[in-house]
Amino acid sequence: MAGQIPQRFIDDLLARVDVVEVVGERVTLKKSGRNYSGLCPFHQENTPSFTVSQDKQFYHCFGCGAHGNALRFLMEYDNLRFPEAVEQLASRQGMEVPREGGDDPHALARERKRKEGVNLLELAASFFRSRLKMPEAEAARAYLSRRGLSAEVLADFGVGYAPDDWEALKRHLGEQGIPEAVQIEYGLLVHREDSGRSYDRFRDRVMFPIRDFKGRTIAFGGRVLGDAKPKYLNSPETPVFHKGRELYGLYEARQADRHLERVLIVEGYMDVVALAQFGIRNAVATLGTSTSEEHLTRLFRLVGEVVFCFDGDRAGRQAATRALETVLPLMIDGRQARFLFLPEGEDPDSLVRREGADAFQDRITCASPLSEFLFEQAATGRDLARVEDRERYASQVLKALQRLPEGMLKTMLLSELAKRTGVEQARFQALLVPAEPAEDERHEPPPAVELPAGLPASKVGRRPGALGLIGRTLQLLVHEPRLVERLPETLDWCPTGDPDGALCAEVIGLLRAGGYRSTQVLLAHFHGRAEGQRLVALARRELLIPREARATELDGLVEHFRQQWSRQTPQSEFDDLLSRERSGERLSREDRERLMELLTTLSR
Ligand code: UTP
Ligand code: MN
Repeated sequence: MAGQIPQRFIDDLLARVDVVEVVGERVTLKKSGRNYSGLCPFHQENTPSFTVSQDKQFYHCFGCGAHGNALRFLMEYDNLRFPEAVEQLASRQGMEVPREGGDDPHALARERKRKEGVNLLELAASFFRSRLKMPEAEAARAYLSRRGLSAEVLADFGVGYAPDDWEALKRHLGEQGIPEAVQIEYGLLVHREDSGRSYDRFRDRVMFPIRDFKGRTIAFGGRVLGDAKPKYLNSPETPVFHKGRELYGLYEARQADRHLERVLIVEGYMDVVALAQFGIRNAVATLGTSTSEEHLTRLFRLVGEVVFCFDGDRAGRQAATRALETVLPLMIDGRQARFLFLPEGEDPDSLVRREGADAFQDRITCASPLSEFLFEQAATGRDLARVEDRERYASQVLKALQRLPEGMLKTMLLSELAKRTGVEQARFQALLVPAEPAEDERHEPPPAVELPAGLPASKVGRRPGALGLIGRTLQLLVHEPRLVERLPETLDWCPTGDPDGALCAEVIGLLRAGGYRSTQVLLAHFHGRAEGQRLVALARRELLIPREARATELDGLVEHFRQQWSRQTPQSEFDDLLSRERSGERLSREDRERLMELLTTLSR
């Protein structure tokens, strides 16, 4: 028998998921005041009495009394048992569900240890904070006030002081009965192999606790008061701390504003704290690493916009190039990324002090949008009056576009590129292969991108497995069957010549006929058929479109197909295919089938 799911894991999970997102994937919600509302999925109604509270992470129906958290919602709506609902929520977060209980003492022990670690770090944080108030911290307090930090901001960030003593913390934790081995494991003590002795890692430093999304201390950064090296000492990797994943200040930023819309990514602890001192409370810092995809994925779950902040020097430019590379694949519609370059020799801390909060805010407001930075960067060092330079310019932009998901941004950048280079947009379009490689194609080298000499305007082959536009339409419907309600009455827009198109038409028919609004039911209906496998694959594939942008995305896709059809009426398509066949061209099987299909429909 599988063991119990630890309560701590469930708490953790619920803290990470957003009930608004979970419900919003299944019920159309509208923001009303602080809450969201919609038609209750648990009883029939015409006016919305179903509300979801983001603050409370709770839903409630004033009509039928249904209420609960994200887990309860999944259990009721998708008809899942509790552990299944936990599994489903956890898999969306990429978390594995741990089990504890009789048959796995190891899991139990691991659990207990983790709790121990978190408690321990909390104890250490409060030890450092209390030490900052003592006479021995005189110099540290003077240092912090020289850096312009008020008691209020220091308290918000839980800043403390590690005394100038080899064993202060060790003694303190020892008195609480915490074994040395545990203190070493969580990076608080350094263990010397040669002497077998251990001592405090942080001594005579200003201590910045690094907190997770729930505000629990998971690590520390400590700064020297003077010019000694290293300037900052950080906790090592521990069971609860992974440097490449955490962002300093994210918890504090969310505390300051529960409805955070934009986050500023800076380099240092002091930058985050100094900006907060000046009322700019949405800055976060990576911990001495460059911004990773994981950082950004996490941020985009919380906010729609990130502003990268860089030094104006060469290193800053390089960091910006890396950040651009990292953020491109995440730029689905509805998200924004901008790039802010500071004057040389300044960091956010020094700058906000020198010119004040308003001027700094203005810089944020004026930061370059991704598109601008992309073009500007491709143009650097090139003379766009020369053909060769223009070619390299276009090729560099195309390489970036290749990494972008389909969507408005990509479309706009393409047309902008066409404008700037004077090359027809269709030529570029033909060079772009769908951005998402299929599972089994991950290792294929990216297609070379060169400026076309004279490309045939024929259609670009869709790589098997990569999602075409109709595949994306289908995926949207699979993830959010409710969207079927927005689709036009007739299916004349749907490209049924494509296997995904045909399946899409079938799914729409089924959703309408059955009134189903649940992915599970839909999948169950196709179970055992090849189409069922396709749908399961689409359901598993993460839908990278934020909930609120999905309806618009679907409308856009339908509009796109409509326009395609209107450009190409069945008659003109038929004429085209027929004349190609008559001219002796060997048509593909698809084209031949399409020709037959048109022949029958047109002659009706
Ligand atoms: P900076 O040297 O730019 O730090 O390093 P800063 O925040 O401006 O520091 P102040 O203003 O001199 O106090 C940026 C970040 O790089 C990491 C830290 O995360 C730091 O905030 N770093 C830097 C280290 O981890 N260790 C170091 O020795 C230096
Ligand atoms: Mn600094």
